[in-house]
This record gives sequence, C-alpha cells and structure tokens, in this order.
Amino acid sequence: MASHFTLSLTLTLIFLFTFTINASLESDILLTFKSTIIDPMNHLSSWSNTTSIHHCNWTYVTCITSNTDTTISSLTLQNLNLSGQISPSICQLSDLVTLNLADNFFNQPIPLHLSQCSSLKTLNLSNNLIWGTIPDQISDFVSLKVLDLSHNHVEGKIPEGVGMLKDLQVLNFGNNLLSGSVPNIIGNFTELTFLDLSLNPFMQSNIPIDIGKLVKLEQLLLQRSGFYGEIPSSIVGLVSLTFVDLSQNNLTGVLPSRIGESLKKLVSFDVSQNNIIGSFPNGICESSGLVSLSLHTNSFDGMLLNASVANCLNLERFEVQNNGFHGDFPSNLWSLPKIKVIRAENNRFSGEIPDSISVASQLEQVQIDNNSFISKIPHGLGLVRSLYRFSASLNGLYGELPPNFCDSPVMSIINFSHNYITGEIPEPKECKKLVSLSLADNNFIGEIPESLGDLPVLTYLDLSHNNLTGEIPLELQNLKLALFNVSFNRLSGPVPSMLIAGLPALYIQGNPDLCGPGLSHPCPNDGSRRRAGVSKLACALISLALLVGILSLAFGYFVIRRSSIQNLESGVWRSVFFYPIRISEQDLIMAMDEKASRGSSGVFGRVYIVNLPSNELIAVKKMPNFKNQSFKTLKTEVKTLAKIRHKNVVRIMGFCHSDDSIFLIYECMEKGSLGDLISKGDFQLSWSFRLKIAIGIAQGLAYLHKDYVPHLLHRDVKSKNVLLDIEFNPKLTDFALDRIIGENAFQSSFSSKSGSSCYMAPEFGYNKKATEQMDTYAFGVILLELVTGRAAEPTDSSEDSLDVLKWVRRKVNISNGPVQVVDRKISSCCKEEALGMLEIGLQCTSVMPEKRPSMSEVMAALHCLGSKTRVSS
Ligand SMILES: *[C@@H]1O[C@H](CO)[C@@H](O)[C@H](O)[C@H]1NC(C)=O
Ligand SMILES: *[C@@H]1O[C@H](CO)[C@@H](O)[C@H](O)[C@H]1NC(C)=O
Ligand SMILES: *[C@@H]1O[C@H](CO)[C@@H](O)[C@H](O)[C@H]1NC(C)=O
Ligand SMILES: *[C@@H]1O[C@H](CO)[C@@H](O)[C@H](O)[C@H]1NC(C)=O
Ligand SMILES: *[C@@H]1O[C@H](CO)[C@@H](O)[C@H](O)[C@H]1NC(C)=O
Ligand SMILES: *[C@@H]1O[C@H](CO)[C@@H](O)[C@H](O)[C@H]1NC(C)=O
Ligand SMILES: *[C@@H]1O[C@H](CO)[C@@H](O)[C@H](O)[C@H]1NC(C)=O
Ligand SMILES: *[C@@H]1O[C@H](CO)[C@@H](O)[C@H](O)[C@H]1NC(C)=O
Ligand SMILES: *[C@@H]1O[C@H](CO)[C@@H](O)[C@H](O)[C@H]1NC(C)=O
Ligand SMILES: *[C@@H]1O[C@H](CO)[C@@H](O)[C@H](O)[C@H]1NC(C)=O
Repeated sequence: MASHFTLSLTLTLIFLFTFTINASLESDILLTFKSTIIDPMNHLSSWSNTTSIHHCNWTYVTCITSNTDTTISSLTLQNLNLSGQISPSICQLSDLVTLNLADNFFNQPIPLHLSQCSSLKTLNLSNNLIWGTIPDQISDFVSLKVLDLSHNHVEGKIPEGVGMLKDLQVLNFGNNLLSGSVPNIIGNFTELTFLDLSLNPFMQSNIPIDIGKLVKLEQLLLQRSGFYGEIPSSIVGLVSLTFVDLSQNNLTGVLPSRIGESLKKLVSFDVSQNNIIGSFPNGICESSGLVSLSLHTNSFDGMLLNASVANCLNLERFEVQNNGFHGDFPSNLWSLPKIKVIRAENNRFSGEIPDSISVASQLEQVQIDNNSFISKIPHGLGLVRSLYRFSASLNGLYGELPPNFCDSPVMSIINFSHNYITGEIPEPKECKKLVSLSLADNNFIGEIPESLGDLPVLTYLDLSHNNLTGEIPLELQNLKLALFNVSFNRLSGPVPSMLIAGLPALYIQGNPDLCGPGLSHPCPNDGSRRRAGVSKLACALISLALLVGILSLAFGYFVIRRSSIQNLESGVWRSVFFYPIRISEQDLIMAMDEKASRGSSGVFGRVYIVNLPSNELIAVKKMPNFKNQSFKTLKTEVKTLAKIRHKNVVRIMGFCHSDDSIFLIYECMEKGSLGDLISKGDFQLSWSFRLKIAIGIAQGLAYLHKDYVPHLLHRDVKSKNVLLDIEFNPKLTDFALDRIIGENAFQSSFSSKSGSSCYMAPEFGYNKKATEQMDTYAFGVILLELVTGRAAEPTDSSEDSLDVLKWVRRKVNISNGPVQVVDRKISSCCKEEALGMLEIGLQCTSVMPEKRPSMSEVMAALHCLGSKTRVSS
C-alpha cells in the first residue's frame, strides 16, 4: 500500500518536475533565441527572465495546451524591424509549428538549421534581406507545408532538392534573383494550392509540363520571370485555378484549346505582354449568351445549369493585351456577372460588342484598342453604371454613338478615336467625372455640343479629323483644358478668346472658316468693312501686337512703382515685377507676418508665403540690403536671374527693395522643400520619385552651369533649396544670391551662418573662388540623402550624430556596407539602381575637386540609371 502511494507520489513529482523543467526550458529557449536578435524598437521587451509573466503570455508567442502540457506552437515576429542571427536554438521548442519572421531585416543565407525544428510546418521569411542560393539540403525541410521566401535576394537555380517537400501547400519564391530553369520536380507538389515564382527577372524556363498534376492549385503566379515557350496544354488539368498571372514573360504559341472549358473557377486570367497567338475557338467561357441574365438576377436554380454555362461565373479580370491573338473575341466575356476588367488591346481580335454588355453590372474598365472589332456601339454600354474607362480606338466601330454613351456616373476616359462612327456627337448629360474624351478621326457631323462645357473635370478633348461644323461653343471656355484639338473639321466663326489664352496647346488648324487674331483671316466684326489688303495688314499688325505682348509678358512686364511707405520699413520702396502680380508693396509687407514665414530662416533670410488677392500663392524671400550695389546693378542682376526659364529652376516673379531689405518674389511650390520632407523623419517617397528628383536637380544645375548665359553657380545647393511641385518635380531656389547681395556680403554671411555645413566642399576653406565642383559636391550630398533617406545634418545630437556623408563613408567600406546604407523603404526591385545612385553620390562628394564629374556627366549617368529600369522592368 505504502509503496504504491510512494510510487504514485514519485510519479506525480516527476511529472510536476518535468512540467516546470519544460516551462523554464521553453522560456530559456526564447531568451537564447532573443539574445542573438537585434531588436531596435524593443518589441520583445516582455521576453525577460525577470518578469513573473508566463512565457505563453509574452508578446508574439502562442501556446497550445494538450492534455496537461502547454507548449509554444507559434512565434509571429512579423514586421518588428528585427535583425541579427536566427538562432538554431529555437528548434528546441519541440511543438513549434509556425515561425513567421516576415517583414524584418534578417540579412543572412537561408537558415537551413531550422530544418531541425521537428514540428515546423510554416516558415515565413518573406520580405527580409535573405541572400545566397537555395542549397540542395532545403530537402531537409521535408515536413513543411508553407514555405515563403518571397521578397528577398535569393539567387541561383532552384535545386532538385525542393522536390522532396511533397507536403507543401504554399511555395513562394516570388520577387528574388533566381535564375535558370525550373527543375523537373513540380509534379511532386501534389498538395500545392499556391505557387509563386514571379518577379525573378533572371529566370529562363519553360513552364514545366508537370504543372498539370497540381490538381489542387488555386493560384499560379509566374509573371515577369523569363518564362518562354508554349503554355503546356496540361494546364487545363488545373481545375481549381482561380488566379493565373503569366504576364510579361516571353510565352509563345497558342493557348491550349480547352483552357476556357476547364478552368471554371477563374477569377483573374492574365497572359498579357507575351507573344501568344491564335484564337479562342471555343471561347473562354462558353455559355449560351443571355442565360446569364437570369443568373445575374439571381433567380436561378443551380441544378438547372449545365457545366458549360457555369463556366467563368467568378471571372473578374481578363487580360490578354499585347499579344498576337486573332479570331473572334470570346463573346460571353461581355456579359459575365462579375467581370470587372477586360483588356485585349493590341491584338487582332474581331467580333462585335453585344448589347448584352449591359448585364456586366460590375464592369469597370474595357480596353480593346488596336484590334479589328467591327461593331456598332451598343446601347447597353450606357447602362453599365460602374464603367469608368472604355477605350476602343483603332477598330472598325461604325454607326452612331448612342445618346447614353456617357451615362455611367463614374465614366472618366472614353477613347473612340480612329473608327468609322457617324452621326452627331450626343449631348453628354450625366458623366460629371469625364476627364478625357477622344473621338478623333471618325465621321462625326453636326456641331460640338455646348454641354461639353458643363463637364467639370473635362481636361482632354480631341475631336480632330471629323466633319464637324458650326462654331466652337463659348461654353468651352469654362473648362480647364490641357488639350483641345478640333483640327481638320469644318468649323467656322470666331475662336473664343479665353480658350486661346488658357491653353498650353491649341489645335485648330485645318478649319478654313475659323476666324480670329492670329488666324489667316480676322472675324467679320474686326474688319469686315475694310478692303482685303488693309485687313491683311491689320491682321499682321494684330499678330505683331499680340506677339510683342506675349514677349513682354515673358521677359519683363515691368511695373515700376515708387511709393513712400515710410512707417512700415524705413525708406522708399521700389518694385519690379516680371509677371503681372496684383499686389502693392504695402500689402506685400503686411502679408509677411510671422504666420506666413515658412521653414527655418535660410542663410540669407526668411521665406514668407503670401496669398495674393487673386488667391495665388507666392513665396517672398526677405534679405538684408547690404547696399553695396546700385539700384541699377541690382535690377540688372535680378533681371538676369529672372530670365532663366527652366523647368527645374524656380521662377523669379519680381522683387522689391528699400534701403534696408530686398524681397525676392518666387513662384510658390506646393510640396515645400525636399529638405523638409526628408528631415520630417518619415520619408516615404518611392524610388521612382527619388530618381526623378535627382535627375531634375542635376538638369537644373547643368543648365545654370553650362547652358544659361551668363553661366551661373548656384552656390547654396542643399535639399532645403530644392522645392517640389505637386508631382514632385524638383525646382532649385535661392540660386546665385551672390549676384544680388554682392560677393563680399555673400561670402561673409555664408561662412558665418552655415559654419561647417556638410554641403560645403572641403576646399571651401582655402579656396575663396567658388567653382562648379563645389555645387557638384553639395549635389552629391543630396544624392546620399535620397539614397539613405537620412537628412544631411543630424536633427538632434543624441542619435548617432553623424552627417549623412560621414555616416555613409563609414559604412560603405565594410562588406555589404553599400547595401546597408540604402534606405530600407526603397523596394527591393530598385536596390540596384539605388546602389548606382550611391556610387554617383560618392563620386560627386569626392574630396579632390578634379575627381568630381561635371553636372552634365552626372545628369547623363542618372538618366542612364533610369532608362536601365525601363528596359529591364
Ligand atoms: C536572466 O538572464 C540574464 C541574461 O540572460 C542573466 O545574466 C541573468 O542571470 C538571468 N537572471 C535570472 C534571475 O535568471
Ligand atoms: C496569461 O494571462 C491570462 C490573463 O492575463 C491568464 O488568465 C493566463 O493564466 C495566463 N497564462 C499563463 C500560461 O500564465
Ligand atoms: C521600424 O523602424 C522605423 C524607423 O526605423 C519606424 O518608423 C517603424 O515604426 C518601425 N516599425 C516597427 C513596427 O517598430
Ligand atoms: C508571410 O508573411 C507575409 C507578410 O506578413 C504575408 O503577406 C504572407 O501572406 C505570409 N505568407 C504566407 C504563406 O502566409
Ligand atoms: C519526387 O518524389 C519522389 C517520390 O514520390 C522522389 O523519389 C523523388 O526524389 C522526388 N523528386 C525529387 C526531385 O525530389
Ligand atoms: C524573348 O525571346 C526572344 C527570342 O527567343 C529573345 O530574343 C528575347 O530576348 C526574349 N525576351 C525576353 C524578355 O526574354
Ligand atoms: C447546356 O448548354 C447548352 C449550350 O452550351 C444548351 O444548349 C443546353 O440547353 C444546356 N442544357 C441545359 C440542360 O441547360
Ligand atoms: C497595334 O497592334 C500591333 C500588334 O497587333 C502592333 O504591332 C502595333 O504597333 C499596334 N499599333 C499601335 C498604334 O499601338
Ligand atoms: C486614344 O487612342 C489613340 C489611338 O490608340 C491614342 O493615340 C490616344 O493617345 C488616345 N487618347 C487618349 C487621351 O488616351
Ligand atoms: C462632310 O460632310 C459633307 C456633307 O455633310 C460631305 O459632303 C463630305 O463628304 C463630308 N466629308 C468627309 C471628309 O466626310
């Protein structure tokens, strides 16, 4: 009895003991794991041996309880800015099923040792900095179900060993640097539901024939990965497929003929931008036309449907553009209940657009330009309320445009140009969102509808090459058009003057009966009573006057005023405006209160944003007047700067000055300065914008240095002096201020105020003479800011207070250094270019002035970076 009791007590004790051992072991294992991880934001602070919190309650840890055992089953350490080493110790967690380390900065080869984790089923290392090849020993992960290595820098071939992972359900190698061809193992993954090999630009592979064995496959993503050859006909075996993206490869041949019949569950089908030819002999979604009408109204009984009718009922996207397809376009697509996007442009499809398109109640976007559709434009089109884009240019569309063609409340782009449409242009009534309407090169007759002037956002209007008559409606003056093309019609009467004034480009030629200033004949009430010769002379004079007017606007619309506002700032104010700014000096000074001041005061004074009575914004820079130049010299110098017309140089609109101050009036930029954007700490600009900004600044500087006469130096290049417009086009400001305040005053303010700025070239101290190379140097610092996302000067002295240049120089010489300085927010596709820019930045900031490239060389190099992208992507 007693012995029995003792035994059971011992067992209990042993049990309790092992349990606590287990518990303490698991927390120790986590702590060991944590000890090799760098956790800058301290997200793992709850992982600690000093708290009393049970480790199952530590953050990102999930446990399961089976019987009496509670063990860790999952670690979800996703998006925590972690780096360091992934320690094999984690495999001592014997029940760990899921390890998610996605969206961190682990910078190492594939951690093969994790294959020792005996229970591991899901390994997610997506979006880290994993590099190196996939070793054949990847086969050790034999029990994995989910393997996600996407968005890393994994390179080399896919090894045969991957074929051992026969339980895989999800395999994601997308967005890496894999090369070579897919080995003959795909057939082994019979459990696979998700396969992603997309965005591996160096791959060169056929689509394996064995793909047809993956009967459970739902998503097949192979886009932009160098796949070539034919799509194997075995693909029709993938009956569970919903998403297929094979776009932007080099696929050729014809589509397997039964593809439409078999892939019944398709939601998205994208084979665009390949070289696929052939036709869709059996359609893609063979069904008996209008049957779907009843499906749509949901009154169907599933049992009544036969298989072929049921095809593609879930299809939302059909994208086959930029291939060599021909033959009739699969007509059933037009009336699928869920279809949203149909893109088939640049093929040779024929066929009609059926009236049943009205059934496609989710349809948003149709692009079938440049095909051979021969069709009327169906009335049903106007009934699709979700349609926002319909472009069908370069086809054989004929008949009249139905009056409801623009009834969709969200319609914004219509392009029917280059067809054979006849009749009048209907008055658009509904489409208040229409931005672009192109009806060029058809056979339209009648007048331009006045109600076009009521469409509030219409910006592009192209009605050229038709047979339109009557006058250009005055109502069109209401629009803020960027393009207005009515050339080659038979329009007559006067051209509305406001229309001319507001347009960057006007196309009205080929309408012999239009009249107005600058045209071959003036309007009757201008000079109808004069004789022809005289009227020609008058016309010439008018054009001359107009020309002079425009020129004087451009090169100096001088309104010189003298006023005496003694009490505001001392002295007499004089102003010179190069643009018609309607504001008096007094108003200007009043408007420049502290509220309007923006940014930190620059070396040479503050900038104020002033709202003109016309509601335009201007930027006014206030500088002290050192009075070492006469008014005449000052005026000449400012005029010299104001004549610069370059898209990357801020325009000077005028200036005023008194004995004490000089106000330079600049155009105002919406986005503020690049420097402010970077130093705000959350610099999110995508790579393409960063590159655009870099190229723009380089162009502006190259222009000042070499193209503008007289050649100018900027002399204060820094990211705070780069302003950005709404589209992030950069414009240089505060350039060549030495010319305005005089060399001596410039030098002394500059060296006293900007002290030891990191934009200053090292030779600045001993070389008094300013040089182009100094501008180049400072520009190089801006490039480093763009690449690293760090502000040039540290904002506070606490956090590693190195300027960007020192910081970069310290890092780049260690191995992997260059990759590390690149801003992590730059998407991995662009890292290569970022490294290119880094290289240029380092050349520009070379210590020896003569080693720095000229700005035009820099410009060419940056352009080259940019164009490489466009070719390779
Ligand atoms: C907690 O862990 C630290 C470092 O791992 C160790 O130095 C310390 O002795 C541990 N404390 C206790 C109470 O176990
Ligand atoms: C975790 O915390 C909850 C409440 O905060 C508690 O009920 C539970 O017992 C804790 N789990 C463990 C294993 O300590
Ligand atoms: C990661 O780090 C960046 C800055 O380095 C920070 O803005 C971000 O909030 C961090 N994310 C997390 C989840 O800690
Ligand atoms: C891996 O993590 C990423 C990032 O959170 C996530 O988008 C992805 O779906 C995960 N992969 C799998 C297979 O669940
Ligand atoms: C595919 O699976 C078979 C067993 O089903 C195995 O013998 C073969 O090695 C696997 N292929 C590869 C490349 O691992
Ligand atoms: C596509 O294939 C053609 C001929 O085989 C080749 O010349 C071309 O470079 C390939 N294009 C791509 C993007 O791989
Ligand atoms: C099946 O579909 C065909 C057209 O594809 C149609 O002619 C036939 O009537 C349908 N059968 C049934 C039972 O609905
Ligand atoms: C029209 O498509 C053909 C290919 O079908 C292409 O070669 C041609 O350049 C396209 N034309 C235009 C104007 O895009
Ligand atoms: C309309 O289509 C024509 C021909 O494809 C094209 O050249 C033009 O740019 C398109 N217009 C707009 C505004 O997209
Ligand atoms: C324009 O219309 C007139 C009559 O309305 C017709 O005579 C003429 O042939 C048409 N011109 C073109 C180019 O279609």
